[in-house]
Amino acid sequence: MKLKPLALFVTHDGKSSRASITCQYKCGNACSHEVPNTSGGEYFGDIVRSAMSRRGLLKSGAVAVLAVGAGGALVACSDDSGSGSAGGSTTAAAGGGEAPAGTAFTAVAPNTEDAVVVPEGYEQAVVIRWGDPVLPGAPAFDFANQTPQAQEMQFGFNNDFAGLLPVEGQPNTYLLVVNHEYTTEPFMFTGYDPANPTVEQFQTAIAAHGLSVVQVKGEAGTGRLTPEFGPNNRRITANTQFLVTGPAAGSNLLKTTADPTGTRVTGTLNNCSGGVTPWGTVLSGEENFNQYFANADQVTDPTVAARLKRYGIEGGASERKWERFDPRFDLVQEPNEANRFGYVVEVNPWDPASTPIKHTAMGRFKHEAATIYVTDDGTVVAYSGDDERFDYMYKFVSARKMMPGNGQSSMRHNLTILDAGTLYVAKLTGDEPDQIDGSGKLPSAGRFAGKGQWIPLLRTGEDGKAESLVDGMSAEEVAVFTRLAGDKVGATKMDRPEDFEPNPKTGKVYVALTNNTKRGEEGKPAADEPNPRNNNKNGQVLEIEDEHAGTGFTWNLLLVCGDPAAADTYFGGFDKTQVSPISCPDNLAFDPHGNLWISTDGNALKSNDGLFSVVLDGDRRGETKQFLTVPKGGETCGPIIGESRVMVCVQHPGELDGASADKPASHWPDGGTSQPRPSVVAAWKSGGGRVGV
Ligand code: FEO
Ligand code: CA
Ligand code: CA
Repeated sequence: MKLKPLALFVTHDGKSSRASITCQYKCGNACSHEVPNTSGGEYFGDIVRSAMSRRGLLKSGAVAVLAVGAGGALVACSDDSGSGSAGGSTTAAAGGGEAPAGTAFTAVAPNTEDAVVVPEGYEQAVVIRWGDPVLPGAPAFDFANQTPQAQEMQFGFNNDFAGLLPVEGQPNTYLLVVNHEYTTEPFMFTGYDPANPTVEQFQTAIAAHGLSVVQVKGEAGTGRLTPEFGPNNRRITANTQFLVTGPAAGSNLLKTTADPTGTRVTGTLNNCSGGVTPWGTVLSGEENFNQYFANADQVTDPTVAARLKRYGIEGGASERKWERFDPRFDLVQEPNEANRFGYVVEVNPWDPASTPIKHTAMGRFKHEAATIYVTDDGTVVAYSGDDERFDYMYKFVSARKMMPGNGQSSMRHNLTILDAGTLYVAKLTGDEPDQIDGSGKLPSAGRFAGKGQWIPLLRTGEDGKAESLVDGMSAEEVAVFTRLAGDKVGATKMDRPEDFEPNPKTGKVYVALTNNTKRGEEGKPAADEPNPRNNNKNGQVLEIEDEHAGTGFTWNLLLVCGDPAAADTYFGGFDKTQVSPISCPDNLAFDPHGNLWISTDGNALKSNDGLFSVVLDGDRRGETKQFLTVPKGGETCGPIIGESRVMVCVQHPGELDGASADKPASHWPDGGTSQPRPSVVAAWKSGGGRVGV
């Protein structure tokens, strides 16, 4: 099947379509602030990569969830949990022919509809919306009469990551685990006064953050999912108690009036993307936590002030003014509170009474997510990007081996895996650095490619003792001020590393680098081979062949995103007249056939955000096709690509400048004159059947 030439939006106005209201509430206007990374960034020189270790099969009788390593044992589930089962087959016909399995659908054209648009022959439906009941007794959602008590039992706001975990012994039943990244109060409450939020609004917003665990039931013959009151249903909010583990647990840097032990944190904030572990838990990245903390401008200690600044914590009042209601958000009263956010959190969704964990051995930065690869010998490798312009890519390599099985003793053991091991930051070099001029012009090799090395920052032993591997910093300082450790070793400054995911079929690792319009500005780093465009509006996708537990890797750019008609774009060498335009790659997922799927955030090509499939191997490598678009003003998040169901989270629908709850720009999903509601959506082939086949 040949793709129809696509209607392209050829607009090079240099602006992401993300509304300024979204920037304000989602990331604390990160783009209009100074870039937090002003470090020197040493020249590292040539990096010699040692031979890549080849991995075989991990023979694990693991839980009925996900095996993440290449060829990793995948336990049989009828599987729509997007686990990337190794069983699918696909052949890219040389020189054209049929679309590879998983990608045989008619691409959705760019558009600005107030709807979820799916390919011809597919259907979609909402799974759960902001305000829908999660816990028994939750009242029906009443936009005009919200209360914190109701929100604590209802699905939270602005869903980002979604994980779908099969419930063992119950066919077609899953736990849906979803992050609620942030609240946009002007869209949650009519008549909202940002200068004078009410205590009810504050408490409702606190309850609308965090995560939801909801049991969902599939419908035979379709991909439809319906929420149920299952025994594991749970709301985690910005008021839930967390346990701190790893080298910073008990550190003076984490002690507050409410928690003199430095081991118990109230709440999780700005949970962006995440990952499902092979042992059946969910990891969630605390991303733009900086924006919740007020009065950094009154901090006088220069060391403390510099640390705050490196994390983008600055200014007086916070956007939401939470400091007026709870002293923990006021840095003058609680100078260490901000040090207690910015971690990878782990939730055991199978035990609603369990205390979720903040893993400090994995470092503190704006964690976009954490995703796992398991090596042959059971070593666990967790990848995580720091989503800020000119910040870094990290991985954590465990000291303990994963214990197979899904009994309680395995779970207890595996919940400690992310507490002992080595944290690394990435340095990349290009093969042809002299040929990079910032225009996106390919070097003579015909692709952007090079080598890299993982620089160790922090080693935590199984006995809990941690060793700093960075001169001038203690172990707890590296754990809490990880960005500063990355600065000291001269890590490579990237164009906003978002999702960072290993392909379960091949073991190759992919990173979405979403954009960076500051690249090449005066006084800022210029383009380099992995970040080859100055004023980078559309982002790129990096492909890594990693030694996983080792320290060497090679890399190349799979996609240099944007309008395919523009000279500065690259689609893996595929014919650019036959691809969908793609801009601002954000979340990544893999289908059961091994294709990469990408969701976008902030399309700079004047279309709504969407979800795209990308062929990785064979003659059609780089072929990019849009599978769906989300309603106007929304962002596509949390993709899960299963055998017969595609899921996405629609975040912030209708968040357009000039709009608000008083003047809604979207009426999705309920139509009429309703308020827009962030929601999880499932799509499937009409009449059932495998997606893209
Ligand atoms: Fe929450 Fe980096 O996206
Ligand atoms: Ca994201
Ligand atoms: Ca994003």
